[in-house]
This record gives sequence, C-alpha cells and structure tokens, in this order.
Amino acid sequence: MPHDPLSRFTLIEPAPAKVNLALAVTGRRADGYHLLDSLVTFTAFGDRIGLLPAEEDRFTLSGPFAGTLAAEGDNLVTRARDRLRNALGGAPAVHIHLEKNLPVASGIGGGSADAAATLRGLLKLWKVGLPHDALDALALGLGADVPMCLASRPLIARGIGEAITPLALPPLAMVLANPLVGVSTPAVFKALASPDNPPLALEGASADWPATIASLRNDLEPPARRFCPQIAEISGSLAAAGAGVVRMSGSGATCFGLYPSQEAAEAAAAALLQRHPRWFFAATTTLGASDGAH
Ligand code: C5P
Repeated sequence: MPHDPLSRFTLIEPAPAKVNLALAVTGRRADGYHLLDSLVTFTAFGDRIGLLPAEEDRFTLSGPFAGTLAAEGDNLVTRARDRLRNALGGAPAVHIHLEKNLPVASGIGGGSADAAATLRGLLKLWKVGLPHDALDALALGLGADVPMCLASRPLIARGIGEAITPLALPPLAMVLANPLVGVSTPAVFKALASPDNPPLALEGASADWPATIASLRNDLEPPARRFCPQIAEISGSLAAAGAGVVRMSGSGATCFGLYPSQEAAEAAAAALLQRHPRWFFAATTTLGASDGAH
C-alpha cells in the first residue's frame, strides 16, 4: 500500500468535484457576473482536505496536481481558513493539507470544492457553528461556486450560483476527461455570443435523467471550444468509448461522459487513458442526495 499522506490528520474532509450536467446563462448583472440556471451534481472523485491542530498555521500539498497549485501562491483554502477565523472572532492554529487530485482551472470547481471542504472541516474541528446566512455569505464571498460546493449534493443553482434548490438525482456512472489545458472562466463568459439565453427546460424532466441531460445544453461550451479545440476532440473520444451522453462542465475544459454502469465507465476510462496518455481521465460515480455534506 502506498503511504497515505492524510493518515496522521485528525479529520479528513472530502472535496467532491462539481459537475454542471447542464448550464444556461440567462443574463448578466450590472457588476459583470452572469445569471445562471444550472443542473449540478458532485462526484465521489475529488480532492481531500486533512486538518490537524497545530502550534502555528501550516498549509501543505500533495497529489498529482499539487505542482500547478503551489506555483500560484495565493489559494482559496487559506483564504477560506482566514475568513472563517475572522468571522468567528478567532480560532486555534491548524495544519491544513490539500490532496490535489482534480486538474486546476478545469470547470469542475476544484478550488471552490477545496474552499467549501475547508469551511466544513474547520467548523467540525473547532466544534463551532455559524448561522446559515453568515456561512452562505462567507462562501459566496470566496467564489460563486463555493455555496453549491458547501452543499455537495445534486441541486439546481440559479442567481450567480448561490440560489440553490436541492434535487433528487440518482447516482450516475461517469468518466471525467480533461486535456490538461487550463481555460480562463472570465474569458469564456466574455466570449459568449449573448448573455441572454432561455433557462433550462426542466419542467418536463423525466425519471430518465441521462435522456433529460441529453436534451439540455451548456451555453459556455461553444465559446470554450473556440479557446480550447481539444474539447471537441475529447468529447468525440468519450462518445467513441461508449458514453451515452457527453457534455462539458462549467467553463471547461473538463468534459464528462455518462455510461450505463460503473464497470462500463471504468473500462472506458482505462481504454481512453491508454489511447491518450497525456490527458486526464477518471471513472467515478455521482453522489446521491444522502451523500450531501450539509
Ligand atoms: O466567483 P468566481 O471567482 O469563481 O468567478 C470567476 C469569474 O467567472 C468571475 O470573475 C466572472 O468573470 C465569471 N463568472 C460570471 N458569472 C458567474 C460566475 C462566474 O461571470 N455566475
């Protein structure tokens, strides 16, 4: 067994990847943020946060994408720690370890998931609570996706992402795929042909979720494909490997494919990795309502 860098931590908090199964951009606010209508779920695959009481604050990293993040200096984990401590009027020092398994700047909410897991984990470690409104405001201040990542369960996100309605969605067998080319979220939003698009047609959604998802769209996919032509290529590969539905998540470049079973997803990911050894693939399952962190 390889050594688990988190084994000596008091508390391990999962930071599931966020997947926009569908995303409509329905308007733009005066401050430049866009209004969304998005069907969102989370996956068993994700980053992990380890927490340990310490003499002074420490932040350490491991995992396949630790290198990219270390180079960035500032990060959402330490920002979440500092803002929570501030909101609480002080809290003890802590060693936070981030195991970075998710590609960075890839449309599956990595940084937001890490920030949300830090908030959830520190509230448990410090045995404190914050009123829901205060916690949600703190989360939103860290990023538009952080409130939904706090919930980490199937949901519909509206507003700029903070207006959340929980949703019953079954676990789905999925392959996440990324060409390991970072895509700038603000640039993709700016390149939209129009910020005013119709909301998702979810009213008639059937119990057949893959069919429903196949009938929906991600408005950010056309502009993201112009920045990152590999999105078309990777989507084609997922479909060729047997995915029933293929879409892009968030502002890209991560795409997902839905498969009929976990076995099929795992076989597809293994075959895809063999064919494209420089790309990222992960077979996973989406979380059900009861797996939620809230
Ligand atoms: O809130 P966050 O820092 O994650 O957003 C990154 C950028 O993505 C914003 O600065 C904005 O340009 C764009 N964005 C947007 N509308 C949203 C969410 C993000 O325009 N609802």
